[in-house]
Amino acid sequence: MSGKMENEMELMFDAVSYNEGLARVAVAAFVSNLNPTLEELADVKTAVSEAVTNAIIHGYGNVEGYAGKGRPVQQPADGKKPGKVRMLCKLERGVLKVLIEDRGKGIVNVGKAMEPLFTTRPDLERSGMGFAFMEAFMDDLQVESAPGVGTIVRMQKKMTNDPWIEDAR
Ligand SMILES: Nc1ncnc2c1ncn2[C@@H]1O[C@H](COP(=O)(O)OP(=O)(O)OP(=O)(O)O)[C@@H](O)[C@H]1O
Ligand SMILES: [Mg+2]
Repeated sequence: MSGKMENEMELMFDAVSYNEGLARVAVAAFVSNLNPTLEELADVKTAVSEAVTNAIIHGYGNVEGYAGKGRPVQQPADGKKPGKVRMLCKLERGVLKVLIEDRGKGIVNVGKAMEPLFTTRPDLERSGMGFAFMEAFMDDLQVESAPGVGTIVRMQKKMTNDPWIEDAR
């Protein structure tokens, strides 16, 4: 028999950049029992990491003070606490569905934000390619956002569910 085709998990974590790794590993572990190809695994991890990074950096303005690649991380301003990012993963008939939600500042113009190379933070050495990567690496991408309310990113991808491990027995 191949891997389990129906499953669900939810994760809530602080909106701080070291949790990008947590989100990547969590989604990888979640789909691992479907025997995904290495390419599928890399695609899913990258897409999740882009969405989670956006929630942390843009949604909550990164209270840890991310200062750009290679620059020292600053301490959060006094009394400022990180917001929360919620990640919901579902497997439905071998299709992975991921929802990533923040209650941060939201996006004024979602269509514009999703255009390749569009960024509101060139000062943080952002390149405006996050949504383009999510779109390229997943089968479907939906973004719902309201200024002052937050952002919900929904992505899905059909997993191969190759039963090669079972066959080898
Ligand atoms: N969760 C979010 N909350 C608020 N704004 C967001 C969120 N996600 C994306 N945005 C807005 O959409 C823009 C485009 O996002 P995208 O991920 O494509 O590029 P980027 O994050 O600016 O750069 P890169 O992802 O290449 O580092 C961001 O610059 C930001 O203004
Ligand atoms: Mg981004």
